[in-house]
Amino acid sequence: MIRLGVLGSGHGTNFEEIAQCIMDGRIKGAEIAVVISDVEDAPILRKAARMGLQAVYLPADDYKTKLEGPQEDEYIRVLKANKVDYVILAGFMRMIKANFLKAFRMKVVNIHPALLPAFPGLESWKQALDYGAKLAGCTIHFVDAGMDSGPIIAQAAVHVMSDDTPETLHARIQEQEHVWFPKVINWLAAGAVKVRGRKVMIKA
Ligand code: GAR
Repeated sequence: MIRLGVLGSGHGTNFEEIAQCIMDGRIKGAEIAVVISDVEDAPILRKAARMGLQAVYLPADDYKTKLEGPQEDEYIRVLKANKVDYVILAGFMRMIKANFLKAFRMKVVNIHPALLPAFPGLESWKQALDYGAKLAGCTIHFVDAGMDSGPIIAQAAVHVMSDDTPETLHARIQEQEHVWFPKVINWLAAGAVKVRGRKVMIKA
């Protein structure tokens, strides 16, 4: 059984789908040990509490998009105290730095709403739309010290439609996120994910 620590800053729809899949057996061999948010009133915390999961607000610096210093230490402490095997970034909007990555070496997994390496950073679905890309999608990857640059575990593409708005495109990308994040967690729980350098192999 792998223990997950889920970090999120927003709506928590990915978290919700993962939790639901665990509850109804579509994800096997994984449990959610703790859900942490850097945003006190984030829906992800309310959803987690409603599901009977441990939901923790851990403040981080207001003005930065990183997690560092004593606040980073506190995140690591809470995750370790909960014996977390994998840290799942489900809409966590801060960069994870070296200390954290050292504490959870190749155990931090992020979902990004674009086909990386295209469109790293913020509001990537909007970046894809503004760029005129015909394909958008999502990427699930291990986190390394760069921005959205770690080894890729899975990707799913969606077509960009000529009448797409940022909202409609993001909604279609999220449908794929909700399919692929649980799949990846199943692979992790089954010990099916092997990493060699940048290459990730799935032996499902
Ligand atoms: C997701 O679309 C995820 O890909 C994105 O935030 C959204 C969170 O949705 N993550 C990033 O942009 C990370 N850079 P959710 O809170 O409903 O799961």
